[in-house]
Amino acid sequence: MMINFKNVGKHYASRGQEKMKEVLMDSAGIGPEIHYYMIRGGVEQKNITVWEPGTVSGEYIKTYGHYHVGDLSENYWVVYGQGVAMLQKLAENEKGEMIPDMVEEFRVIKVRAGKKIFMPTKFGHLLANIGKTYLVTADDSPVDFGDRDPSSFPGHANYELVKKMRGFAYYVVEYNGKPALRRNPLYKSIKKEKFGGLPLIK
Ligand SMILES: [Fe+2]
Repeated sequence: MMINFKNVGKHYASRGQEKMKEVLMDSAGIGPEIHYYMIRGGVEQKNITVWEPGTVSGEYIKTYGHYHVGDLSENYWVVYGQGVAMLQKLAENEKGEMIPDMVEEFRVIKVRAGKKIFMPTKFGHLLANIGKTYLVTADDSPVDFGDRDPSSFPGHANYELVKKMRGFAYYVVEYNGKPALRRNPLYKSIKKEKFGGLPLIK
C-alpha cells in the first residue's frame, strides 16, 4: 500500500485553555491546559479527535465549533465515550452571508460509541464530552497540508462566527450530574430548535 509519509509531522494539533476561553460559557473558568487533541489525516485517512473529560464552571469540555466554508458536509463516527453534538444553521442576509446572532435551526444529538453523525452543509457543529472517559471520534473532513496551520485551523473551517458569539446558541452544562442546556444570551433569535431530550435550565 502506498502511504505518503511526507505530512505526518503536521498531523497533530491540540486546543488549549487560552484559545477555548473565547468560546467558553465562563471565560474566566478554570479548565485543563489542553481541552482536546486532533490528529488530522483528511478525507481518506480520516481525522481523530480526543476530548478530555470534565467541566469548566459547569460546562462540559467541548470542541471550539465551526462552520464549513463552501458546500461541504461531514460525517463523524463516535469511537469511544459519550457525547452531545450541537448543530446550528444561521440565518442569511439577502447576499447569502450568515448572520452571526440569528439561528435558523438548532439541533442537539446525544451520541455514544458506535453512532454516526451527519453534519449537513451550512450547519456549524461541535461536540461536548459528557462522560467520565475520553470521547473519541473519527471524521472525514478534508485537510490541505498546504494551509498555514492545517491541523489546528484547516482552511475549510470558519471559526470567526463562533468566536464573535462566544460559542453556540446553547452551552452543554452539568445539572444534577446530567447534561442540560443553557442559553447563550448573545444570540438574538432561534427559529427552530430540537434539544434531543436534554432539559433547558436557567
Ligand atoms: Fe467540520
